[in-house]
Amino acid sequence: MIQGEFNPFDNAKEKDMEVKVKTGDMLHEPSDLAMLANFEDISLPAEVLDLLEPEDFQSKPGQTLLLYPRGAIAPRRLLLVGLGKRENATAETIRRASATAVKEAQKLLVPEVSVGVNGDLALDPQEAAQAFAEGIELGAYRFWRYRTGLDETQTFKVERATVFSRTDQSTSKGIAAGQVIARGVNFARDLVNGPGYAMHPPALGDEAIKLGKRVGLKVTVLDMPQLIEQGFGGILAVGKGSEHEPRFIVMEYGEAKAGTPTICLVGKGLTFDSGGLSLKPPEAMETMKSDMGGAAAVFGAMQVVAELKLPVHVIGLVSAAENMPSSNAYRPGDIVKSLSGKTIEVLNTDAEGRIILSDALFYAQRFHPKAIVELSTLTGAIIIALGSHATGMMGTDQSLMDRLSKAGDASGERVWQFPMWDEYHQMVKSEVADLKNLAGRPAGSITAGAFLAAFVGDYPFAHLDIAGTAWVDRPAKPYDTLGGTGVGVRLLTEFLREYSK
Ligand code: BES
Ligand code: ZN
Ligand code: ZN
Repeated sequence: MIQGEFNPFDNAKEKDMEVKVKTGDMLHEPSDLAMLANFEDISLPAEVLDLLEPEDFQSKPGQTLLLYPRGAIAPRRLLLVGLGKRENATAETIRRASATAVKEAQKLLVPEVSVGVNGDLALDPQEAAQAFAEGIELGAYRFWRYRTGLDETQTFKVERATVFSRTDQSTSKGIAAGQVIARGVNFARDLVNGPGYAMHPPALGDEAIKLGKRVGLKVTVLDMPQLIEQGFGGILAVGKGSEHEPRFIVMEYGEAKAGTPTICLVGKGLTFDSGGLSLKPPEAMETMKSDMGGAAAVFGAMQVVAELKLPVHVIGLVSAAENMPSSNAYRPGDIVKSLSGKTIEVLNTDAEGRIILSDALFYAQRFHPKAIVELSTLTGAIIIALGSHATGMMGTDQSLMDRLSKAGDASGERVWQFPMWDEYHQMVKSEVADLKNLAGRPAGSITAGAFLAAFVGDYPFAHLDIAGTAWVDRPAKPYDTLGGTGVGVRLLTEFLREYSK
């Protein structure tokens, strides 16, 4: 880090929240704040109905009502949260309700919160418990370490949460998994939220080494001389204009052996994307420290996979570079020779993600993986297509994409598939080189995916464009906070868990 730059990033390790399970009736257990989630089609317990005018609370999705029972039931405060119709309930319904509870506890300065659902859930208890824990941990996340002068209401932290459930064994298991997963998501959020000057490529490399020590991964970080020697032409070209050198990061969990699938996760680690010489306009640049959302998802997933000790062999690959304009920067018209040997005509230096990823995707082939899943904040066009409500997906292998779609639904991180017909592959061919990095505005997200597919050989490949989902300006879900979302961690975890079954 450069002298004088403020970086509270390293010493900000926060105390973990404690989440436990209790069987029994939440309304009969003393607590400062109890959150009772209720379906539209299930009536509230009689003792709760006594505390309100029933027409004031219909259990609509997201509806809340705070009650002060004054001794009528054991909790001192009761927060009712509506879940909508029982038949529509998913883990996401629970995740949102428990995030709402923890946010309320923060607001009321209550250090301990109890959560529970009225009546039977149409969900597996372990799955529900996981969602409860995820909502609690994600809902409590804030990125305020760069703010000064915070008062007590802002620094206040919820310390403990209790999940009320019928069964306690599977619930404890679900809670433990949910906490591990949500902490992986929050780790990814931290990486994205770290300013560009602090979270530059060498810093990202150091984060990988720290992560490896923390959870037990084999980590290799290739520096400039190694990148040059081994021919990472894509990463080198994009990184040329920055004083922060690029890096290539390899993280390995588990080992290659018969019966254990090898999966490669690849992430775009563009620590700041100014656009380079094809400079972005100011508004488009504002949030570009988030252009390493794919890398953050891979980091988070590696942490979770190792902590859950999943029986898989996972390789995490991250291309890390900063895209800057300078007299040293790569230019439109340049022709770059990627690690694969294929040449790329640069038409727009702002389409840099596909260039750094070309090296990583080619590198992935050496592991002979069962699947290559790559995540990147790759195109603005995907935001036009899907907004922030789903991640865009393209790939070469339908069964792999089906697995990812399923994992998306189960984890609440939806993905939506786009076609990748031959015509799109034709669109990225260049006259003067093998490929060009720009194919015009039509089908901009798909042609970016088609470009990437040129580097994976015959290995099953899926590309996830998270440009619309990795960052939120206006948080819409109760467990979101302004900034990085950590998208991809829940999805990848669910995908790998199912893969390892
Ligand atoms: N990092 C951007 C994509 C992006 C845009 C991510 C908005 C998050 C929010 C990417 O490197 C980029 O600039 N893509 C260009 C490609 C174009 C020049 C072909 C884009 O989408 O405009
Ligand atoms: Zn760009
Ligand atoms: Zn970019």
